[in-house]
Amino acid sequence: MSQIWTIAETHPVPPCTIVIFGASGDLATRKLLPALYNLEHCGSNAIPPKSAILGFARRDMSVESFRTKAREAAERYSRLKIDEQCWRRFAQNLDYLSGMDRPDGFARLKARLEETERARGLPPNRVFYLAIPPEAIAETVERLDSAGLIAEPQAPYFSRVVVEKPIGHDLHSALHIISAMRKHFDENQIFRIDHYLGKETVQNMMVLRFANSIFEDFWNNRRVDHVQITVSEEEGLGTRAMYYEGAGALRDMVQNHMLQVLALTGMEPPVSLASDAVADAKVNVIRSLRPLGPEDVRAHVVRGQYGAGALDGKQVPGYLQEEGVRDNSRTETFVALKTMVDNWRWAGVPFYLRTGKRLPRRASAIFVQFKRVPEILFNRRVALPPDMLAIRIQPDEGFSLEVLAKRPGLDLSIQPVRMDLHYAAEFNGQSPDAYERLLLDVMAGDHTLFLGSRFVQRSWEYVQAILDRWQEDPSIPLETYPAGSWGPKAADELIRADGREWIQP
Ligand code: BG6
Repeated sequence: MSQIWTIAETHPVPPCTIVIFGASGDLATRKLLPALYNLEHCGSNAIPPKSAILGFARRDMSVESFRTKAREAAERYSRLKIDEQCWRRFAQNLDYLSGMDRPDGFARLKARLEETERARGLPPNRVFYLAIPPEAIAETVERLDSAGLIAEPQAPYFSRVVVEKPIGHDLHSALHIISAMRKHFDENQIFRIDHYLGKETVQNMMVLRFANSIFEDFWNNRRVDHVQITVSEEEGLGTRAMYYEGAGALRDMVQNHMLQVLALTGMEPPVSLASDAVADAKVNVIRSLRPLGPEDVRAHVVRGQYGAGALDGKQVPGYLQEEGVRDNSRTETFVALKTMVDNWRWAGVPFYLRTGKRLPRRASAIFVQFKRVPEILFNRRVALPPDMLAIRIQPDEGFSLEVLAKRPGLDLSIQPVRMDLHYAAEFNGQSPDAYERLLLDVMAGDHTLFLGSRFVQRSWEYVQAILDRWQEDPSIPLETYPAGSWGPKAADELIRADGREWIQP
């Protein structure tokens, strides 16, 4: 086996109680409970003994029903298969408390936490995971504080709070949430999650760029023609109309996941691996994005909404026919945009971003397309394709470098070939799910993979210009695209206008 260099070990995780606010909701079901089960799974034992998980929500439910729900969630969404023995151990750590919306709800939470800690011999280390709508965050932290549930930052045990993207609904509400949280928590007690940062390939971006010497020389406007980032989803709205109707793809995906990936792709080498150094490097990319003036939004941003269509040979309804969607909804399920990173490294290199629901497949990738060779020698009479580095975020994590090679034979024929790395084959095993990594980092108190408040603010500033323009000028089209297609034609025209094409992931 080849040598492995461990640059940073995972930090030790002390025993704690994780309180999931909104424990009966979509996020808890699809992501948090399955991820916690995987961490507990035999062999990984990542959660320290005695730790507890307390679901806290409005709905009345017995602990037994909560455990059954968690089991169903793990069976459906867990990366690892259920092992009966592990499940029994995990289930014993699950508890549930209802009445989050009742006036005495937080006093009861405090009493339950103290009781659990006493019974288990647990220190009062607490993680409050707020899997609740952004509008409810300010009030919830206020109530945590009045109930005396927030320990001082210097206390020998910790209180940490976790919030999910989107932080807010627009720039104004994001700033409000940031300051409301800061009133009650110290910055180092706050963990803002963007789960894309927990994905293996996204984390690998730093290693690829800064642990290898070959890429840095190519990573600039002298060598790169343009960059594309596509996050495509096959899934439609599902049961999330209540949230998504007021969000749309720009808030749901672009403001956070897409801009994070863009920042990691475009950033300067951070001065160290410390989380604030990486945060500085990333935020500088967002600060360099060319602001979108009123006319730019029409010219450089395309929005779309899926209509009925076919996916995997099955007919699926359009967005307007989905449950919970208003008849005349103008919520976008697709966004494509062109942006420029106006700094020394990237001046003149467009970054094209594209994301949508009900596209042909679930696939996310970054494509770095290099410049063509001069039109002499091989390239004189034919237009040979340029080299390209593809970084596949999911599925089939890995990356490939597409270059040209002589096809063996008596003719001089040239053909693209691919140097390809597949994580699954190379590293022989599954990557942990993003939430596993991030939950563990919260317990360990490691901020590296979390959002800084400045990033949240800057990314909202960028996106707000688009939201405002859409609001002010309803004549900016909301294109329809059939489910199962790669989005509206206008998105193709956006990139074709520059003489380029989308690369399908
Ligand atoms: C979430 C969005 O943040 O990311 C969802 O709210 C989207 O709308 C999801 O489906 C995509 O995540 P992943 O990990 O499946 O690419």
